Amino acid sequence: MEGQGTPVILDYRNENGHGWSFYKNDGVLRMIGTTIEDDSKIIQKVQKFELRDDDVVIAAYAKCGTHWLWEIVSMLRAGNTEYNKKTKRVAMLGSGKFDELDELPSPRVLNSHLHFRHLPKSMMEKRIKTIFIMRNPKDVCVSYYFMLNGLQNNSFEFDGTRSEYLDLFLEGKIPGGAYADYVKDWLQVKQDHPDLPLLILFYENLKRDPVTNIKKVVDFIGLSVSDELIAEIIEACSFKKMRTADAALKEQAFNVSNFWKKGQQVVYRKGEIGDWKNWLTVAENERFDDVIQKTYDGTGIVFTYD
Ligand code: A3P
Repeated sequence: MEGQGTPVILDYRNENGHGWSFYKNDGVLRMIGTTIEDDSKIIQKVQKFELRDDDVVIAAYAKCGTHWLWEIVSMLRAGNTEYNKKTKRVAMLGSGKFDELDELPSPRVLNSHLHFRHLPKSMMEKRIKTIFIMRNPKDVCVSYYFMLNGLQNNSFEFDGTRSEYLDLFLEGKIPGGAYADYVKDWLQVKQDHPDLPLLILFYENLKRDPVTNIKKVVDFIGLSVSDELIAEIIEACSFKKMRTADAALKEQAFNVSNFWKKGQQVVYRKGEIGDWKNWLTVAENERFDDVIQKTYDGTGIVFTYD
C-alpha cells in the first residue's frame, strides 16, 4: 500500500476471541490474508487486470446467489445446459489465481465479491457488462453464518455462537465488511457511472420469477436464447440439480473433506427465501430491523423477506 503509510490492524475479535482481524484498503475492510502486503498486492493486480471486451462480470456480496447466477449466465452464453466442470472460483476476480482467469476461454463469465474500486480499471474503459445481484440482509446473514461456521483450518472460520456472530454481522465486522456498505457502493456506482452497463438483480426475484429475470439478463447481454432453452436452464439450475451437479461433476478447487468441518460443503445449503425466520429470535429480529432501517435509509431499496 504505497504512499498510504502502514495500515492499522483492526482486531475485531470479541471478548471470547471470536471474530477476525482486518485492515482497511482504500476504505474497504479486508481480511489480512497471509500478510497485509500480500492482500494489497492481489488487489493491485486485480485493478490492473486486462478484461476482454466480451467478458461479463457478476458482482455480489457473499451468499447472494453468486454460484447460481454464474451457472445460469454461463449456460445462457454457451447456449446449452452443460454445467461448468470447474467451480466458480476459477472465474473469480480476487482469488489471486490470475493464470486460471487467463486460461478461461471467451466468452468469460467472471465473478467477484470485491468492491467496485478494487475491480479492474478496464471495466470502465471497456464498458464491461456487469450484473450486480443482492439478497435480503437477514438471509445473507444466516447463510453466511453457516458458511463461516462450516469452515475448518481456514482464516475465515468462525467458531463462536450465532448470537456472537450476529453482533459482528450487524456491526459490519465480518469478512467483506458491512453488507450495507457493499450494496450502497454499487448503487453509487450506478449513479456515478451511467456509462457502465450495470444490471441489478435480486436473489428473491430470480427465485420467484426466473423467466422474467433471466430474460432481463438475456436482453442485457444481447443474446438470442429460445424460451425453451431458458426453461431448460432454469430446470438445470434449480437448487437441487445444482447441488447434485456440484457434488457429482465439479472438479473442486480444494479437497472438500478437509475444507469443511463435516466433510460436506455448505454452499448449496437451503436455497430458500426467509430461512432467517428459523434462526433469529424475536428480539434479534427487532434489532436487525433497526439496523436495516438506519443503514439503508434513503437508498430506496425494498428487500423481500419472505
Ligand atoms: P443458503 O445458505 O441460504 O441456502 P453464493 O453462491 O453467493 O455463495 O450464495 C450461496 C447461497 O445461494 C446459499 O444460500 C445457497 O444455497 C444459495 N443457492 C445456491 N444455488 C442456488 C440455486 N440454484 N437456487 C437458489 N439458491 C441457490
